[in-house]
Amino acid sequence: MKISRIGKLALRAALGAVLALQAVPGEAATPASPQPWWTHAVIYEIYPRSFQDTNGDGIGDLNGVTQRLDYLKELGVDAIWLTPFFPSPNADFGYDVADYTGVAPEYGTMADWDRLTREARKRGIRVLVDFVLNHSSDQHPWFRESRSSKTNPKRDWYVWHDPAPDGGPPTNWESIFGGSTWEYDKPTGQYYYHVFLKQQPDLHWADPGLMKAMYDVMRFWLNHGASGFRLDATPYLFEDTTWPHDPDVKSGAPVGLKPYNSNLPATREALRGLRAVVDSFPGNRVLLGENAISSIADLRRVYGAKADEINLPMDFLYKDVAGLNAAAFKARIDEAELNLDGLPPVFHFSNHDSTRQWTRFGDGVNNDRIARITSAMTLTLRGTALMYYGEEIGMPDLGAEELRAFPLSAKRKVADNRDPERSPMQWSATSGAGFTTGQPWLPVGQSAGVTNVAAQRADKQSLYHWYAQLLHLRKTNAALRDGAYVPLESGNPEVVAYARRDRAGHGVLVLLNMSAKAQTLSITGWPGRSPVADGMLMASPSSAHVDLSHPVLEPYGVQIAAFKAR
Ligand code: GLC
Repeated sequence: MKISRIGKLALRAALGAVLALQAVPGEAATPASPQPWWTHAVIYEIYPRSFQDTNGDGIGDLNGVTQRLDYLKELGVDAIWLTPFFPSPNADFGYDVADYTGVAPEYGTMADWDRLTREARKRGIRVLVDFVLNHSSDQHPWFRESRSSKTNPKRDWYVWHDPAPDGGPPTNWESIFGGSTWEYDKPTGQYYYHVFLKQQPDLHWADPGLMKAMYDVMRFWLNHGASGFRLDATPYLFEDTTWPHDPDVKSGAPVGLKPYNSNLPATREALRGLRAVVDSFPGNRVLLGENAISSIADLRRVYGAKADEINLPMDFLYKDVAGLNAAAFKARIDEAELNLDGLPPVFHFSNHDSTRQWTRFGDGVNNDRIARITSAMTLTLRGTALMYYGEEIGMPDLGAEELRAFPLSAKRKVADNRDPERSPMQWSATSGAGFTTGQPWLPVGQSAGVTNVAAQRADKQSLYHWYAQLLHLRKTNAALRDGAYVPLESGNPEVVAYARRDRAGHGVLVLLNMSAKAQTLSITGWPGRSPVADGMLMASPSSAHVDLSHPVLEPYGVQIAAFKAR
């Protein structure tokens, strides 16, 4: 993106401490410190249902998260994001919220929540709440009222429409989870709109009463110790109310983003409103966004022209690179680091909706080495990184067999195609994996016998220690913490190379061999004089020899080497 000098100055004023301007051509700027915590944080996603059960019902709970705060502190994360723990019929495991300001009894009480945030604060860990803002549950009292009559004051809190002339749905639009986006409601003879499940009616953000109620929900959690929110499914807040016919729809096939169901202009204003609420509280509260993007320009827009929308929109271009493809990663990283006006990119691979990275990138033989590549990359880049519980020990997805052998129950009424990545955290090799003393709601992975926290903490060479060391380095090394991103050329299509550099020109070189063969490199692209080696910081497999110009990398090898300015 090109911006004039005057434009840059205006932008700099607007972005305040967050903005970093380019110091050296081809290098992402060294920002003016100190930066708000979230510009370089590691945010650890917890699926509370599967993290730690403390009452033996087989379902994780808030007290379980509290119990594991010391572990999270030892690992070195800055914040945790909890997926929904609100009262919910669990048609979409909590993403169908029946009470925005309550705690579901299966997860605990408000007192448990307050204790969790208090204890987290003592350990310097912030807590983010998952805010499901596009839709509620059909069991939410707001929806019950809304559907009770056409004249109910909350009628317009949801999206209602008369049937088409033939009595059918108002449009031919299909929902993200498949089937029509419209559900007929007999008592009032209208359809309501749901872009996800029919149990998840869309909230009508154009209604001022609804908007205020949702802002009040945010204030509730911000007053109860939340450091911000992960915003669920932000693109879908508004619909095109000319209700166009979709010529491309195949009945029954799930759809994704369509111009009529997502990213409508009014969304921007609503997001600015959310940001204003968060910014009205002290202590650098933050919005982490689940957004949909198809280009880096899209991603830049989500931050807001004046960086006044979402602080941390997730970079799904990076997340969704297919396979371990060095050229694709290099392109995605360079654009995120260099084309976002110095705003912090948000990198991650694993979450509660996607195959875990161990399973996704692993080849069944070199998984441990590969996990060190993907973690080193995500955690040494400039910006914010997300982790998903269990990633630090290389937890795999559940296999189809493991799930097939596990019966549905009152705790898990429906099978969800995302069950494989939501299995209980593997704390130990004991039965229940240290997650529960009861019958878990989802099966404990068979890998727990080998892949568990207890075993890995005892083994200094384990993936757990690799992560802990990376997180420590990221915090304590000035270049990794606040330094500029320097794109480099590795001279080898299998290897990603870049550096992070502080204002004095000292820093860290990162080399990632994405192939099963040893690779020889020829590093070029240093802006100014190339630096001198200053020792190996981390390497997989272990190595002490630093060569800044012609290094050799082992198969799936990683090197993180220190350098000094000449
Ligand atoms: C988001 C959540 C996902 C949920 C959906 C509907 O994509 O991450 O788990 O099913 O929104 O709320």
